[in-house]
Amino acid sequence: MSEEVAVHKHDVVVIGAGGAGLRAAIEASSSGASVAMICKSMLGKAHTVMAEGGAAAALANKDPRDSWQTHFRDTMKGGKYLGDWRMAQIHAQEAPDRIRELEQWGAVFDRTPKGKTSQRNFGGHTYPRLAHIGDATGLELIRTLQQKGVHMGMDVFMEFTVRRLFKTDGRISGCFAYDRNDGSLHVFKAKTIILATGGITRCWEVCSGSWEYTGEGHALAYWAGAEMGDMEFVQFHPTGMIWPPSVKGILVTEGVRGEGGKLLNREGKRFMFDYVPEMYEDEFADTIEEAEAWVKEVVSGKLATKRRPPELLTRDVVAKAINSERAAGRASEHGGAYLDISWRDPEEVKKKLPGMYHQFKELAAVDITKQPMEVGPTAHYVMGGVKVDPFSQETSVPGLYAAGEVATGLHGANRLGGNSLSDLIVFGKIAGERAANDASGRHEFMEIDQKEIDDVIAETLEPLEREGGENPAKIVTDLRSMMQEKAGIIRTGSLLKEALSDLNSLEERAASSSPGGGRVYNPGWHQSLELGAMIDVSRMCALAAHRREESRGAHTRDDYPETDHHHWGKVNSVITMGQGGEMKIDFASYPKIPGDLKKLLDAEDLQEEE
Ligand code: FUM
Repeated sequence: MSEEVAVHKHDVVVIGAGGAGLRAAIEASSSGASVAMICKSMLGKAHTVMAEGGAAAALANKDPRDSWQTHFRDTMKGGKYLGDWRMAQIHAQEAPDRIRELEQWGAVFDRTPKGKTSQRNFGGHTYPRLAHIGDATGLELIRTLQQKGVHMGMDVFMEFTVRRLFKTDGRISGCFAYDRNDGSLHVFKAKTIILATGGITRCWEVCSGSWEYTGEGHALAYWAGAEMGDMEFVQFHPTGMIWPPSVKGILVTEGVRGEGGKLLNREGKRFMFDYVPEMYEDEFADTIEEAEAWVKEVVSGKLATKRRPPELLTRDVVAKAINSERAAGRASEHGGAYLDISWRDPEEVKKKLPGMYHQFKELAAVDITKQPMEVGPTAHYVMGGVKVDPFSQETSVPGLYAAGEVATGLHGANRLGGNSLSDLIVFGKIAGERAANDASGRHEFMEIDQKEIDDVIAETLEPLEREGGENPAKIVTDLRSMMQEKAGIIRTGSLLKEALSDLNSLEERAASSSPGGGRVYNPGWHQSLELGAMIDVSRMCALAAHRREESRGAHTRDDYPETDHHHWGKVNSVITMGQGGEMKIDFASYPKIPGDLKKLLDAEDLQEEE
């Protein structure tokens, strides 16, 4: 019996409703395109809200020395020079305008005493650069874009999961999705599609993302033949909650450290100074007390210095330091580190970090104005993703665009905190504009091969027919703990090889799992379908991590601890699907950086890269 399928037609289909998706949809709509927005969850519930501390933009409100050039340099340096300099330039130049635009649309940013948008310190940013709304910046960004977006007349499909992208004559022609509530089936015909699905970090046991973050966007692009870049680079945010177990992984914003939070080990020692003693040598004399006094001055803005407190080194460095303290037997009670902001005025803490105050009070019974928090690394972001043209955000599949976390290029081997929110609005806008423009030149919708539709419907419904197999939830749990152990913060060649072989076994188990039940409200069925994407994105990560025989940014190989500037520093991994469906890996470089931009970079680092 043939299944009932609803067919929808839109010029532009946006998959994903976080900051990038909403910004793209607003832009496409405003240029007259008919737009569908497909969300896996409810509109407004997106990982964007987990970028709490702010959006990076060189507004120079707190420090007039800031400029797009310095933001460009910090982004390239933070990404360990593996990022696409063209995207870093566009991002640094356009971020201030995108923030001002958000303000015009109603975002209520915190203010300086003179009434300007306030900016705070964050890791790897030379100057206070993060425009923020307390510690709920991502949430306010989503609220603002959502409010703007719903007035633009787009069609929103909530709680839909997209399972396949269709191509006709090599060009994108639509996608297939099902409704997670009632199991109904839907084909979307489209002239262009924008992927804005976020990341993949739900493939790790301890992560800051919620259930939606299973990597469908990455997998959809890969299955459609797109090139995937830099998939080995997964960022572990240094500070997630670690206690009680039910909240493990929930983000503790870097804003806490931006406001002066100190990291302490079991012995009460401020250990970050030990990891970079050379950085602080000439700022003060020998004692930790002097170092702390200096940090207080910097945080309070009384002392202008380009050097940040050691807690504000880039995330890769801080996460690894916490890991090393644990390995050395100096972890906090539950295996992480203490993060202490209680030295600041309690009213200031509540004003600047209201979300953190309530989060710890309600979830951990800790009053952060009086007691330290307990924190540890949590998988937070993937720098790798679909390769895009830096000027249009089009992928290597004609008609398919990507923006935000699902796309790669801007962040290289390590993203700076705050660069994600600005990435979403800068490149979301560009993707929306270019996809709408592309669609406007095409009058007809292309035919979609009926066999492809039938095949994906059969694949989607097939798990419901299986009986007596494993519960898919068990396979998801095993995959997440395997990735945590074998493709986590510290990796080795042999563990990564094991990960690849484990993924093959997990794939076999997934193929015979049986969720039971029917099509209506069946989370087991959803999980059995999500496993396909989770396995393929985990495989991309393990494969690329296995091949990169060096340590750089978020990728640390215990068996290759050095950063290799001569070979690996010059190449980015590229994964594609081979003719026979096998995963292939190759390496490529971005075009050479022009001399005028190169001059902006850190001369000392560049000597190593030469
Ligand atoms: O720590 C944070 O507030 C996260 C920000 C980000 O990932 O950009």
